[in-house]
Order: sequence, then C-alpha cells, then structure tokens
Amino acid sequence: MRETVLTTNDFVMPMFVMEGENAQEAIPSMPGIFRRTVDLTVKECKELFSLGVKAVNIYMKVPENLKDNLGTEAWNPHGLMQRTIREIKNAIPEMIVMPDVALDPYSIYGHDGIITNGQVDNDATNDALARMSVSHAEAGADVVAPSDMMDGRVAAIRQALEETGHTNVGILSYAAKYASSFYGPFRSALDSAPKDFQEIPKDKKTYQMDFHNSREALNEVYKDIEEGADIIMIKPGLPYLDIVAKVRQEIDLPIAVYNVSGEYAMLKAAAQNGWLDNDKAIIESLTCIKRAGADMIFTYAAKEAAILLNN
Ligand code: PBG
Repeated sequence: MRETVLTTNDFVMPMFVMEGENAQEAIPSMPGIFRRTVDLTVKECKELFSLGVKAVNIYMKVPENLKDNLGTEAWNPHGLMQRTIREIKNAIPEMIVMPDVALDPYSIYGHDGIITNGQVDNDATNDALARMSVSHAEAGADVVAPSDMMDGRVAAIRQALEETGHTNVGILSYAAKYASSFYGPFRSALDSAPKDFQEIPKDKKTYQMDFHNSREALNEVYKDIEEGADIIMIKPGLPYLDIVAKVRQEIDLPIAVYNVSGEYAMLKAAAQNGWLDNDKAIIESLTCIKRAGADMIFTYAAKEAAILLNN
C-alpha cells in the first residue's frame, strides 16, 4: 500500500579515483568513503553490482603537476578517468558508468571552467567540456554527467557526441545546481575547492545557483531539456526537496537528485556520536528523496543502503 518503495535500482554511487596500485585512502570528513586506485575501484564496482547498485559516477583526484587553466588533462585518452572508465566497462559491461564532466579537479584555480581575465569563461569552457565528454565516450562511458553549470554546454556536448558518432551516449545534466556549502567534504576529497588567487572569484556563485531562488531552477531545467539533456539533476538533495517536487510536477524526463557530501557527513557525524540511528536515518532520507520525485539518487550511502535493503 506504500506510495514509495526504495530499491537498490534507485542508487548511483559516486566514487573517487586516484593514481597508483592496490591502495586506498580514507576521506576523514566522509566516514566509510575512500579514494581508490583503479584496480580497487573496479573491485568495489564488482561488489556494488552484486549488491544491486548498477550505476557509478566517477571523479578523479588529479595530481598537481597535471593541472592547468585549460583542463588539458581532462581529455587525455590515456588519462586516469579514461583508464578507469575502460577498466570498469571491461570488468562489468553492464555497470552504467557516468563520469563527471567539469574542469575543477583539473584546474589550477579549482574552478569548473577556464579563467579568462579573472572570470570563468563560459563559452571557452563549453569547448573544453565537449572535448572531455567525447573522450569519456571513446573510453566507453554510458552517460556523461556535466556538473559545471556553464550555459549552453548541453548543446555543445550533444553536438560533439553526434559528430563523433557517439549517438547512444546519454547526457545527465546538472540543471539546477546550487552554490552550496554542503559540497565541502567533496572538495577536500579531491582538493578541488576554488584556490586563493587574488584575481579570481573565491566561490562558484557566477555559475551555480543562488539558494534564495526556486523559479530559476525551472528555467535552468527547461534550457537543458531543450539542448538535449536525457536526465535532469537537482543538487544538493535533502535541503532542496521543494525544488525536486516542483520540477517533478513540470517535466517528464527522469530526475536525478544528489544527496551530497555534506549531507552524508552530517548524518555520519551524528550517527558516530550516537545522536542518530545510522541505518534508519539513511533509509528514511533516501526514501524521502524518492518520495519528492527522484528517479535516481546519487548517494555515498548507496552501498550501505543496498546492504540494508537486501537484508
Ligand atoms: C564539481 C562538483 C562538485 C560536486 C560534484 N561535482 C563540487 C562543486 O561544485 O564544487 C559536489 C558533490 C558533493 O558534494 O557530494 N563540478
């Protein structure tokens, strides 16, 4: 009789990948989450798949010496991201691999786009994102997930994918992504926060949305749909479920919601103190995200929740 039933099919697991072999590093602000080398990432993917988590969203910890302003390493065909996509698809062909598309882990400035004259250069960035997406598609990505919030990048990516024959690669567009303090733990995991250069903005407010606004979200969503997005992302999750419910009423495309690093960190911190029941709070939060209208949930708790649901 329940309206909403949470299943492992709802989950997308975000994963952090680093260079090296047979190693993993804990991320202190995200208990239970690790940066892993490619081999251990593949191993973890096998485990996730057997638990029923059939999609992963992947991020790179880019070595400092490979960072620049243009994000050149982002479309290196032999780069860490491209190798990771290939290895996961080789090992588990049915795992849906959704690489993140944005320049921040590759940028010396820690911005999602290229900096020109002290500003994030929207249009120059779109070309870079399109190249990055094509290189992900060439490595075997099923869906590319642009999280950068540049205007017009969905159209640029779609066009580049069509021109290179990747007509079946989907685009999951972060359409309504807010400039949020809840991304802190993620940025420490990748060392990707905006850097302290005098001449550049210290935050992402010129491209991410203002949390005082809700109607703006619909405008962003409609634009991305028009440009060819296949799935629409709303982010963060829990404090933004009004946005999810509102967008759900207006559109028919699948909606993805990102239960972000700060939401995960809050829950884990409270649970570790014995102030919340970890398992119950995880299942309740994820169910409520689905109830609000999510068709899929990006969550660091995917594995834990899958184990709980399977039992
Ligand atoms: C950057 C990106 C961010 C996240 C996903 N992609 C951080 C940001 O915009 O600064 C955050 C995810 C999380 O907090 O879990 N393109």
